[in-house]
Amino acid sequence: MAKERIRIFDTTLRDGEQSPGCSMNVQEKLRMAHQLDRLGVDVIEAGFPIASEGDFEAVQAIAAVVRRPVVAGLARACPGDIQRAWQALKGAAHPRIHVFLATSDIHLKHKLRISRQQCLAQAEEAVRLAKSLCDDVEFSPEDATRTDPEFLLQVLAAVVAAGATTLNIPDTVGYTTPEEFGELIRAVGRVPGIEKVTISAHCHNDLGMAVANSLAAVAAGARQVECTINGIGERAGNASLEEVVMAMRVRPDRHPCDTAVISEQLYPASQLLSEITGIAVQPNKAITGRNAFAHEAGIHQDGVLKNPLTYEIMTPKSVGVPDSTLVLGKHSGRHALSLRCEQLGYRFDRRELDELYRRFVVLADRVKHVKDYQLLELVREDGMTCQRIPPASAETVPMALAAAAGNSHGQPYPKRFPLPLSTDFQPAQLSLNSMAAHPGDQEDYLWGV
Ligand code: KIV
Ligand code: ZN
Repeated sequence: MAKERIRIFDTTLRDGEQSPGCSMNVQEKLRMAHQLDRLGVDVIEAGFPIASEGDFEAVQAIAAVVRRPVVAGLARACPGDIQRAWQALKGAAHPRIHVFLATSDIHLKHKLRISRQQCLAQAEEAVRLAKSLCDDVEFSPEDATRTDPEFLLQVLAAVVAAGATTLNIPDTVGYTTPEEFGELIRAVGRVPGIEKVTISAHCHNDLGMAVANSLAAVAAGARQVECTINGIGERAGNASLEEVVMAMRVRPDRHPCDTAVISEQLYPASQLLSEITGIAVQPNKAITGRNAFAHEAGIHQDGVLKNPLTYEIMTPKSVGVPDSTLVLGKHSGRHALSLRCEQLGYRFDRRELDELYRRFVVLADRVKHVKDYQLLELVREDGMTCQRIPPASAETVPMALAAAAGNSHGQPYPKRFPLPLSTDFQPAQLSLNSMAAHPGDQEDYLWGV
């Protein structure tokens, strides 16, 4: 079955930037925009030009130098905003004005203090003005999922007639559910003139359903998804770009569609955003979190060592993560422990390994994650009788340890050597690259328990 092409509209630099602590200056936005370009997104929403001088400059600068994707700027449905957006965007190779106006009664009554009739007229006029400046006009009825559907469709029909080329349906407050949102998108698909228009989904994550809702929208006919790197955005955030993209890549049987995103650039994009904003990615974040490809439980480690497919549904490399990691903690098994020892230059027979493992578990109970220097101290403590072997790869032995052990130039390991006390609180992590040849059997599985 031919895959439908879904356009990725990245709003990290606009909706994402609106989340507390995430604001970016012009240079930072430019750096991020270049990475989004490398990532292959279709549209970069670069900012809200009327919001500040800095945001205007950022949109203008991105429009001038990032030439492949569409560059969009946000505007409220009023002439000042739309003209300002156009001033910032007009140098772009592919500019888009994104006009929004709330349509729910709750917003009309309490925020805008206008009637439905006024709202309808304002939306239409705004889109007409935007269209007079720019061919590519997106319209968003803010709070669409809490808007009376009949009124929503009336507004959408009016803005299509006024020249909108994308209708974006925002779940502004993260209130909808996949089934309900799918129904709404199907209804939008019946708006007169919709054949010339792209339907888009813009989901917030207040109930943790932003990605599920976006995928439901795609199944119902949306062909653009608005999302952000690391899922940053107002309150609980926007749909996470990396999750939307990888759901389609990993489950084409359920989502017969694809994007132009270069998935190997996902992790670099996530890391760059964290570096710029200073906001770390939560460790258990899907796709790009530190633990997304880390395994601590012995059974899992044993399985992954034998074949990563046992516990990984995508390869770390496919999303730009350098490698899977095995974290040595109290849930780890002998298989991972013996492998790490080998990488550090020690091989044990079964009886010795049992003894080391017993003491390792006691230590892991206390320190949570056993680091290399602690493991080496355990080995040293009892002057265990083990076979010394060259480490598996230079990369897997921290330089400080290698130097302390006197082996950085291939010298034999001394019987005992002083080990530096590490101030580095990273857990010991094992690279799977060097593990492929490790023998495993059913017994290893039982060891892992
Ligand atoms: O969430 C929202 O409604 C928005 C619009 C401006 C598209 O971000
Ligand atoms: Zn939003």
